[in-house]
Amino acid sequence: MSIRPYIVGNWKMHGTRAMLAEARAIDRAAERLLKVEVALAPPFTLIHATRKEANLIAIGAQDVHPADGGAHTGDVSAAMVKDAGAGFTIVGHSERRADHQETDAIVKEKADAAIDAGMNVIVCVGETEAERDSGKAEDVVTGQLAGSLPTGEAVVEKVTVAYEPVWAIGTGRTPTVEDIGAMHRKIREKLVSIYGEEGASVRILYGGSVKPENAAELLAADEVGGALVGGASLTAESFLGIIMASAEAQEEKS
Ligand code: 13P
Repeated sequence: MSIRPYIVGNWKMHGTRAMLAEARAIDRAAERLLKVEVALAPPFTLIHATRKEANLIAIGAQDVHPADGGAHTGDVSAAMVKDAGAGFTIVGHSERRADHQETDAIVKEKADAAIDAGMNVIVCVGETEAERDSGKAEDVVTGQLAGSLPTGEAVVEKVTVAYEPVWAIGTGRTPTVEDIGAMHRKIREKLVSIYGEEGASVRILYGGSVKPENAAELLAADEVGGALVGGASLTAESFLGIIMASAEAQEEKS
């Protein structure tokens, strides 16, 4: 397993060209923080420009359409985002599952399409607050994994899983370190049952209200290989705070 923490910024529907200065600053700083693998997923409109600004960090998309092309007004295919400079894409984010009624089967089609196009994927899973309160969180998450993960020849090394409890996204609330560790262990078990022993090397990120102040603690939880960061990735200052905290957490783990 890669022991470098993987810290991914998801800019969601934020950013115009004025924000390229933040991407540039993140990239410059990442050159001095080689113990951490850093990536940014800007909106589609900034992928190409961000790729041109950044030398070191990975650039990705936040979604792709499952088809290669065709009559799908407003949609964007994996080949298109790859052509614009994306090396990976997020799929199955809970905001897309909720806003666009994306099922596990659709998320899997998107993941498969991205991998076919030669990209890596970050597959997001996570329970709602009602599902956690009713004791169903682990079943929901393992069910999402079974339905959403890409399958087929040589896909495992292209996959990262992000565990993002829906109730922790943008709320300032996070699970306890014990709860994160328990869920990540469960995800690891499921990855091994789906992919065999190769599933042991898939990175599992935590996402949901990660900030510079809590990053070291959250990243020290069992089986957490990095973070998927929303709001706190929008400025270089806060994102770099998380990157530096993750480098420290990594040193303590090893
Ligand atoms: P926040 O970090 O803003 O809670 O968002 C998390 C997220 O959804 C990243 O994909």
